[in-house]
Amino acid sequence: MKLIHVVGARPNFMKAAPVWRAIDKLTDFQQVLVHTGQHYDILMSEIFFSELNLPQPDYNLEIGSATHARQTAAIMIKFEEVLWQVKPDLVLVYGDINSTAAAAIVCSKLHIPFAHVEAGLRSFDRRMPEEINRLITDQLADLLFTPSIDGNENLLKEGIAESKIKLVGNVMIDTLVRLLPKAYKPKEFNNLEQYLLVTLHRPSNVDGPQILQIVLNKLQEVSEQIPVIFPLHPRTKKMIAENKLSVVQNTNLNLIDPLGYLEFLGLMRSANAIITDSGGIQEETTYLGIPCITVRENTERPVTVSIGTNVLIGSKFDKINELVTLILKGKSKPHAIPPLWDGQAAERIALVIKDYPSSGIQ
Ligand code: UD1
Repeated sequence: MKLIHVVGARPNFMKAAPVWRAIDKLTDFQQVLVHTGQHYDILMSEIFFSELNLPQPDYNLEIGSATHARQTAAIMIKFEEVLWQVKPDLVLVYGDINSTAAAAIVCSKLHIPFAHVEAGLRSFDRRMPEEINRLITDQLADLLFTPSIDGNENLLKEGIAESKIKLVGNVMIDTLVRLLPKAYKPKEFNNLEQYLLVTLHRPSNVDGPQILQIVLNKLQEVSEQIPVIFPLHPRTKKMIAENKLSVVQNTNLNLIDPLGYLEFLGLMRSANAIITDSGGIQEETTYLGIPCITVRENTERPVTVSIGTNVLIGSKFDKINELVTLILKGKSKPHAIPPLWDGQAAERIALVIKDYPSSGIQ
């Protein structure tokens, strides 16, 4: 059986790596890795391949950045050619990025079955490009691997056949469990014991210069309480530079380049709290038991709020200081790890795929 894995941007790599490893253990499976090149910087892409032990891609479509329509269309055109050449039996797509939805549409039109890893998540906010990508991908998928039970419920409500949906757990946590022993702090922060870690890149927080300036001011304010480490996503860095936003960098407010997986994990596990708008970090902090303050109105990962350490603050930026003060006093919410976030999700996916041709889903 021939499988293609499609990856495109940073959060895809941690999800595909454990599935690749699990399928590699099966006999009679040939795997092909396609990188769309949606993320192309060394720090956004290459470093993850070596740290996660992902093989070099068999195909790199070198799409790069563009508007949504251009990026999605370019991926579709080049991925269609790959499908004609490789003729896979099954394609695996991951997460909710433009590469995911683009590959999903191409597979469907060519009648090539595909599986969506991290299916069923919904923020119910169609202003987010990722929500559109999730809806398209899940409607078209032949197999839907969900990380938590809310995913199954959402898919059933949208009329997806129950036989296609498999609750397997969270593959991102598989990577975290495997690599936690190898995680390390960047050496410049080795002696820092108390700090906040920040990541922000959602268009709703960084694409409007006024909002981004308010957020930077709040971070400046909170950095008077506790040092802040803020690895800048290229989108955020560009917005700060283009709009000449003011931010006073000092030993308490560290704006740094994006980090690799092992350094970021090393910082995350020892942080007092994380401020983020990322999806994956809401999950990783829940697993690690680190308080997470999410600067979004909603989340497609509700178990991180109902079970885990996550608190949504929307655009109530004043809450940052308030919550950090409470956290530093040791007052954070009770939390647990959601079911099946145990490091074995990819093994469960491999078991389903092993039986796929005879499962009748085709
Ligand atoms: C994408 C995903 C988002 C995911 C995020 C993780 C979509 C719609 N969004 O958002 O779901 O959470 O990746 O990082 O697919 N850039 C670089 N170097 C790179 C990549 C991007 O400089 O390697 C810059 C470009 O200027 C680009 C901007 O970052 O315009 C945004 O990149 P893009 O891939 O469009 O979306 P992300 O914001 O990274």
